Amino acid sequence: MSKYHTAAPVITIVGPSGSGKGTLSQLLAQNLNYHLLDSGALYRLVALSVSGKGIDPRAQDKVAAVAATLDVQFDASGDATCVRLEGQDVTTAIRSEEISRMASVVAAHPLVREALLQRQRDFRRAPGLVADGRDMGTVVFPDAQVKIFLTASAEARAQRRYKQLEQRGERVDMAQLVADIQARDQRDRERAVSPLKPAEDAIILDSTEMSIGQVLAAMLSHVTGSERDSAATNRSK
Ligand code: C5P
Repeated sequence: MSKYHTAAPVITIVGPSGSGKGTLSQLLAQNLNYHLLDSGALYRLVALSVSGKGIDPRAQDKVAAVAATLDVQFDASGDATCVRLEGQDVTTAIRSEEISRMASVVAAHPLVREALLQRQRDFRRAPGLVADGRDMGTVVFPDAQVKIFLTASAEARAQRRYKQLEQRGERVDMAQLVADIQARDQRDRERAVSPLKPAEDAIILDSTEMSIGQVLAAMLSHVTGSERDSAATNRSK
């Protein structure tokens, strides 16, 4: 047994932007009473901080230095999580289209990923963790108990994103949104470090034709199944 298995259980949720993984990770964590790691928010925070400091997001060393000393706080209260950067509430600011684009640029730097690795692992605490983000099951928590790869068609994801932005009063062109999502997918899939791909032992869920409730039910049944399996394994030892 690896040393990790004595640690709190982890469920990783991986998938492209707009697959619903953010909402579903939050719902799953609430249902199980687990902690939540929104790793994308960390890359978004690096992007926001770099942008505020006037640093070129392509300058790996400088961006990694920002990532290593990032002063962030996640305050979970009720259904929402308030994200603070240097004490300031940036919950909405990190979700803009500009920061989304920049986050995927800073996330491609190996030194930035390295700088954030331990910070992400520190989220693993009892009774358990739901970890949301593309390299959660492959790099950050390779020993996670349940790994889920959540996907949906680019059009379905663009539509969901459009609604989200509309609710926030941001107007965007639908065709541009589909093109942006496809470009970001390609950048994330083809990059050398931590590309977006399902872990070998991941369960793949396609949510294109599923409601949030249906996806949540499917996830919970995988978690319950895995708990049953591990209890059976322990009994037979
Ligand atoms: O998941 P979210 O859209 O908030 O992530 C923002 C960006 O951060 C992604 O486009 C991706 O490039 C990057 N990211 C990453 N690894 C993670 C989480 C996010 O590279 N674990």
